[in-house]
Amino acid sequence: MSRFWSPFVKDLVPYVPGEQPKLTKLVKLNTNENPYGPSPKALQAMRGELNDNLRLYPDPNGDRLKQAVAEYYGVSAQQVFVGNGSDEVLAHIFHGLFQHGAPLLFPDVSYSFYPVYCGLYGIPFEQVALDEQFQIRIEDYAKPNAGIIFPNPNAPTGCLMPLDVVEQLLQANRDSVVVVDEAYIDFGGETAISLVDRYDNLLVTQTLSKSRSLAGLRVGLAVGHPDLIDALERIKNSFNSYPLDRMAIVGAAVAFEDREYFEQTCRTVIDSREALVAQLQAKGFEVLPSAANFIFARHPQQDAAALAARLREQGVIVRHFKQARIAQFLRITVGTPEMNQALIDALG
Ligand SMILES: Cc1ncc(COP(=O)(O)O)c(C=O)c1O
Repeated sequence: MSRFWSPFVKDLVPYVPGEQPKLTKLVKLNTNENPYGPSPKALQAMRGELNDNLRLYPDPNGDRLKQAVAEYYGVSAQQVFVGNGSDEVLAHIFHGLFQHGAPLLFPDVSYSFYPVYCGLYGIPFEQVALDEQFQIRIEDYAKPNAGIIFPNPNAPTGCLMPLDVVEQLLQANRDSVVVVDEAYIDFGGETAISLVDRYDNLLVTQTLSKSRSLAGLRVGLAVGHPDLIDALERIKNSFNSYPLDRMAIVGAAVAFEDREYFEQTCRTVIDSREALVAQLQAKGFEVLPSAANFIFARHPQQDAAALAARLREQGVIVRHFKQARIAQFLRITVGTPEMNQALIDALG
């Protein structure tokens, strides 16, 4: 703290990201990265961008990427927004679409960046309790609100809301923006992008950090009605006109175009997840049903914080949250079969 800080900065409660350790020997299962590399075609395209053109600014609109996303999902490029990671896309959504007086609604167990954005942009919010099975009960969202946001599958639980239930929630909230944060949708869910033509209040966000294995590139996107996209463009062009660099635009576009690699790696991660769930259950863990590239598990006889600390001593890092309702759970990213085995061995 310094005397130069404004009262606003003093009061901020920033997000705490999972550890990015400097030690490379660790088995890193703590921040839901993909254990397989990005599409080789995307890497090759990015290498091709490393040339003298870097003296020029990139396309401020990222049209090459918007086009690739639009083609992949069968929507128009006017329905697509792209940004520097879905965190930035989410920040613009909070800033541009959720400041309407009434509280923003999101689950009590959810992505911990949401309350941080509310603090940053002065948005009142209400956290709606998940049921005992850690599922979202859409009836509980039938109250005045300035918007609704939830990850699907939810994070950190991994639990999926089926598409027909997402649609029921949209129908019950025609007058507020509903944001479905689909960071993990490719690992077992069905995207709500198929509903954007029917619901002008729906915005779906996605990231290339998980299923397309480009966390280090920082690319995220939103798909929705052109009027919602326009709001995000207005915010973006009042903040940073060039959020995506030349490599990011091309690499992300080619990653969307390389369907074969994408589908194959997603399938491999899903298969590893199912194997890991079975191994953990055999060790007495209770595991929530996951449609993501991570699982949320607790052991009836072992304290989760102590387990996480002891795993770390053995070179395996997983994520533990101190929040009361989930303090006995560990969030474990699905790794390669070898990484998962290292976890199981360390637990042994
Ligand atoms: C639910 C959820 N949404 C959004 C993000 C942000 O992803 P990124 O900024 O890498 O696109 C994450 C990252 O872990 C997440 O878990």
